[in-house]
Amino acid sequence: MKFFVDSADLDKIKQVADLGLADGVTTNPSLASKQNKPFKQILDEICAIVDGPISAEVTAVDFNGMMEQGRKLSKFHKNIVVKLPCTEAGLKATKALKKEKIPVNMTLVFSTNQALLAAKAGAAFVSPFVGRLDDIGEDGMKVVEEILQVYKNFNFDTQVLVASVRNTEHVLKSALLGAHVCTCPPEIILELVKHHKTDEGLKKFLDDWAKKGEKI
Ligand code: E4P
Repeated sequence: MKFFVDSADLDKIKQVADLGLADGVTTNPSLASKQNKPFKQILDEICAIVDGPISAEVTAVDFNGMMEQGRKLSKFHKNIVVKLPCTEAGLKATKALKKEKIPVNMTLVFSTNQALLAAKAGAAFVSPFVGRLDDIGEDGMKVVEEILQVYKNFNFDTQVLVASVRNTEHVLKSALLGAHVCTCPPEIILELVKHHKTDEGLKKFLDDWAKKGEKI
């Protein structure tokens, strides 16, 4: 499973990339708006750090606007993946951008049927928002499981990118289900490293070694 960093914060993306755990990055308008820099500069800086798919979302909601912004964003760097919302205009633009060889990440996906349409439109990635589904009392990971099954049934090559990840359990379930990608806030990726028994074991090893009084 690939890890994407769900952030527009350069320092945090770099921290994950330095661990070799950033296979790509996802941004959205809310994440980008937290950074006090022009969007192009944010994307340029991310592309210089991570050599993998970098999702950049359009803000247009009509077909022509999505096409114009999608083409513009894709020219910023070869790794840019255009993020489009799962709407009628978004599906139409996904198909049209694919014809121009511009990859799309279909975002704001909340149902298996939406994911089916995204794959039929030719999206490179589909982003089910598991945390926001959990928030409304639904089971986000169940939707991921269904999408993976449907894609397998019809041999779709759209990659399932688990999004709106809120905890390490979402990551574990994504891996168990065989999701292609999990995009996580940097804090969650860093939390995966930790286990109290690792800290405890390391302390014991170092204490015992200190008693031996030798240097390696
Ligand atoms: C994914 O691409 C989105 O940017 C993100 O995962 C949304 O997460 P949120 O529901 O925590 O805002």
